[in-house]
Amino acid sequence: MDKITVVGAGNVGATCANVIAHKDLAREVVLVDIKEGLAEGKALDIWQTSSINNFNTRVVGVTNNYLRTKGSGVVVITSGLPRKPGMSRDDLIKTNANIVKDVTEKVVKYSPDAIIIIVSNPLDVMTYCSYLASNKPASKVFGMAGELDTARYRAFIAEALDVSPKDILSLSLGGHGDTMVPLPRYTSVNGIPITELLGKEEMDKIVERTRFGGGELVNLMGTSAWYAPGAAAAQMVEAIVDDQKRIFPVCAWLQGEYGLKDIYMGVPVKLGKRGIEHIFEIDLNKEEKKLLNDSATAVKKVMKILDDMKIF
Ligand code: NAI
Ligand code: 2OP
Repeated sequence: MDKITVVGAGNVGATCANVIAHKDLAREVVLVDIKEGLAEGKALDIWQTSSINNFNTRVVGVTNNYLRTKGSGVVVITSGLPRKPGMSRDDLIKTNANIVKDVTEKVVKYSPDAIIIIVSNPLDVMTYCSYLASNKPASKVFGMAGELDTARYRAFIAEALDVSPKDILSLSLGGHGDTMVPLPRYTSVNGIPITELLGKEEMDKIVERTRFGGGELVNLMGTSAWYAPGAAAAQMVEAIVDDQKRIFPVCAWLQGEYGLKDIYMGVPVKLGKRGIEHIFEIDLNKEEKKLLNDSATAVKKVMKILDDMKIF
């Protein structure tokens, strides 16, 4: 790909740009921030690792200069405030909605064909916000969350079993919040159902730790995580750039799938060069359906806050 843009040169954005460059996914990565010099500095620092880390991708930083992002094939939006201890992701909505709307409009002006991946929180509603601002098909505007949530879940399971995290196959549904729905019934260790390897009590603890995995890191660091979020967003970019048709849990616009309509939420999708190429509807039991519906109710509540802001 010619050009990939990452908006927001903070912790997550810079990490994402760094991983994209390491993977050599584009000829050029443009990092954008509003804070004078920040994107320029981080981009220069990343670019200066190219001979050490053996990549060709040019990394450039700009302050609010969207002309420089012109013609991007994929744009990752990470701009906005992160959580501080005691805050929920939903507390960020008022500030971040205005930022995400403004950034999306500028991105689309210069890269009308770009696929947009949202990372800013509250994730499901910021993805909805970008969708409204972009006037693009929903297959080209979606959010990163499930990829991170399942990465955490897989890491916890790998630790519990002392096996490679690469062999943990799993799925998570729902909003990116404490109501997310990791699915033990759809989790296996290279095909061996997790239920044969870990007891219910242990799995319940892992599911609970996953649900609050973001908060655990906020409490440790005083701000939210970036290595896993940045790498997760870059993995989605890779699936698109290389047309890999990977199946990931992605925050997608639902139009009747799982009995849910007009809502952005995490579901398994196929990701390729056309963006979301398919949404998979898997069978859920009664308990899983209830958890998913509860998660949808929580997301809808925050969507209403955005609707009530009347910025569209
Ligand atoms: P950060 O504070 O390190 O970086 C955010 C950057 O956005 C700052 O450099 C800031 O100057 C920039 N920014 C603010 N307004 C802007 C604008 N209008 N245009 C361009 N840049 C602008 O925060 P961090 O840790 O990088 O997190 C970024 C966002 O990602 C937060 O909302 C956070 O909650 C979210 N997040 C989402 C995750 C997910 O799974 N979806 C995981 C981790 C973080
Ligand atoms: C996370 O899950 C805060 O959404 C961010 O780390």
